[in-house]
Amino acid sequence: MTLIDGKATAAAIRAEVKARAAAFEQKSGKKAGLAVVLIGNDPASQIYVRNKIRACEEAGIRSFTHYLPAETGQKEALALIEALAADENVHGILVQLPLPRHLDAKALLAAIPTEKDVDGFSDENIGKLAKNEGGTVACTPRGVMELLRRYNIPTAGKRAVVVGRSNIVGRPMAMLLINADATVTVCHSKTQNLKEICREADILVAAVGKPKFITADMVKEGAAVIDVGMNRDENGRSCGDVDFEGVKERVSYLTPVPGGVGPMTVAMLLCNTVEAAERTL
Ligand code: GUN
Repeated sequence: MTLIDGKATAAAIRAEVKARAAAFEQKSGKKAGLAVVLIGNDPASQIYVRNKIRACEEAGIRSFTHYLPAETGQKEALALIEALAADENVHGILVQLPLPRHLDAKALLAAIPTEKDVDGFSDENIGKLAKNEGGTVACTPRGVMELLRRYNIPTAGKRAVVVGRSNIVGRPMAMLLINADATVTVCHSKTQNLKEICREADILVAAVGKPKFITADMVKEGAAVIDVGMNRDENGRSCGDVDFEGVKERVSYLTPVPGGVGPMTVAMLLCNTVEAAERTL
């Protein structure tokens, strides 16, 4: 089994981004800039945002962080996003999800201009992805594709199964795999015969959000298994959606958690940001 090293791959991508960010600065006279908006106290979001900001700084991308209290109202949040939308030093805007429940997330995300949508969540970017017309792609699924590409894992004509249908991962992941000529099945909580379907996958992407959900009996011998999960096991240790120990003997490629897809999400955010900046040249 080849262990897919997301940390090393992400470091290589971050170095590439750093060079592009420096070139952008040379040409434009200013740094590429990412605004990160975090509303409320979700502990996981706080860690993710901290990682994103640190990665920006290391890559020579200027970050603008806006921490707002959980009680922030819709008007105030919208006013901030509109100000960032108008700010020429801000090339990308990321509103960390999930937002506090009283806020209308859809309306807030809609206020991010498509050209600054470094998350690839806008209707226009999702539409382009659905039609295989380019556009900015959500960071996590883009990171998964980058891992497949850099590890020379073929997709054309292969059976790919995506477990999970979220807007952030499952759906865009399925579209990317279709665009890469895979034969794609999307499974979810209502799927019947989940085990049998997963066992047909040459490429299995687990984005369920349940610790160790994918067990050895659910994977095909020699498959490439990509674990997007970020969970805690019964001992409080970080674990993915895949039972790593059980599955590792059967598969040909496997991503660890931590150190697999997670670091790639951050690297692809930097990539999307520098690309957004380059488009303004
Ligand atoms: N929350 C979990 N993943 C993500 C992501 O990729 N982008 C944003 N904005 N929020 C998230």
